[in-house]
Amino acid sequence: MSPSQSTSYASGQQAPKWPADKPLALQINHFSPVREGHPPPGTVPDEIVAEGEERPLLFHSVQLPVSRLTLKNAIVVSPMCQYSVVDGYPSPYHLAHLGSFALHGAGTIMVEASGVTSAGRITPQDLGIYKDDHIPAHTSLVSALKSFTEGLTVGVQLAHAGRKASTWSPFHRGERKVKEYVTDEEGGWTKEVVAPSALAWGKGWITPRALSTAEVKEVQKQFVDAAARAFESGYDFVELHAAHGYLLHSFLSPLSNQRTDEYGGSFENRSRLLIDTAKEIRAKFPERSLWVRVSATDYAEHVHAEGKQSWDIEQTKQLHKVLSQVGVDVLDVSGGGLVEFQKISPRPAYQLPYAHELSKNKLASPLLGTVGIMEGDEYPGQVAEKALEDGDASLVFFARGLLANPAWPEFAGANLLGVRPAGNPQYHRVHPVKPGETKGKKAPSTAQNHN
Ligand SMILES: Cc1cc2nc3c(=O)[nH]c(=O)nc-3n(C[C@H](O)[C@H](O)[C@H](O)COP(=O)(O)O)c2cc1C
Repeated sequence: MSPSQSTSYASGQQAPKWPADKPLALQINHFSPVREGHPPPGTVPDEIVAEGEERPLLFHSVQLPVSRLTLKNAIVVSPMCQYSVVDGYPSPYHLAHLGSFALHGAGTIMVEASGVTSAGRITPQDLGIYKDDHIPAHTSLVSALKSFTEGLTVGVQLAHAGRKASTWSPFHRGERKVKEYVTDEEGGWTKEVVAPSALAWGKGWITPRALSTAEVKEVQKQFVDAAARAFESGYDFVELHAAHGYLLHSFLSPLSNQRTDEYGGSFENRSRLLIDTAKEIRAKFPERSLWVRVSATDYAEHVHAEGKQSWDIEQTKQLHKVLSQVGVDVLDVSGGGLVEFQKISPRPAYQLPYAHELSKNKLASPLLGTVGIMEGDEYPGQVAEKALEDGDASLVFFARGLLANPAWPEFAGANLLGVRPAGNPQYHRVHPVKPGETKGKKAPSTAQNHN
């Protein structure tokens, strides 16, 4: 598919001249920092902290315990699939989408789930990092983002969709509301959908093929090769996606893993693929930063009464201790996605109790990240700030809240501090915070936005 085939232009509009035979990959070879001499967006310089006030924890820099990588604040853009890709390549769309978070002060951006193999993509429109040819487009993306704002850290989530592969993205399935997968004729890969065991995710979904023991080892290699591509592209860290029912999570949970080889049965066996993959990345890239996202629970404890086992917080606590030995920088604590009968009730900070539970392990590494409606409601920043104050987490991940408002970090700073944190100097004409504009616990001041 060439871009001109997939894009329509209003009458009278010029269609851009695309190179007809090139995929829609981002290609930028000129990077120049766009500003100098200003405090980085998303930071709170001493001069704007009023006497007697303290800088909110959300705006403290965070040093990661293993790699010593410094994040300029505790705000992380959670990975978000955009299903806007041809053949796995990052496109100009990603620069616009992620660029707005960079300009508005998020400290760290995690690029969406990127397939470590083409059959491991969730949908045909997923981002990929499964061939060397993807590297220049990823390099363009990372370098351009970093040229926008100082101190920005950028990582990428490495993913294999497992039994949730070859499915429709929410906005490509059109009328196909009840048809759960993309057929081979429609561009899917139904015969290549794999999992620990031949168990479909739900009714009407593809029944995956169980991986052989040798193939599981091949998956490990695919993750390690993808990490190599990511580091070559300039990413500061990689995150292994072991949450939301995708392949690594489906190995962890006894609900989806019924294997009898070295990858099934005991906790040690079910976690072997994730742990060995993390260990190999750690060994091959000792200086680089490695993060892991887990579902702390399948949200399926109700099946225990039927004599079945699921993945739960107790096993996650055990996993946390093992990952600490491996040398993981951040454990990003999410939940669910493994089974259609999960019982979950999203509300502000709904997954924070799992990070809280893990904080009782009292480990210096990995640092804990929490995610799930952490933007709060009326008072931006307070829910997240409290999680940090209570020591439940060291980093806070935001997805939908930032989609709704990429400038959320500025609102959070204004609310917690009474003055906006350092912003994008090109936007210096944005109004200062006015008395009464913030509703938080701190009295607002009329101080200017510091640029
Ligand atoms: C559009 C969208 C795409 C997402 N894609 C991913 C993804 O690529 N990888 C992932 O681990 N989670 C993904 N998620 C989940 C988010 O990262 C996050 O964990 C979840 O939305 C809860 O956080 P929130 O309440 O701040 O949105 C996605 C969420 C949204 C809304």
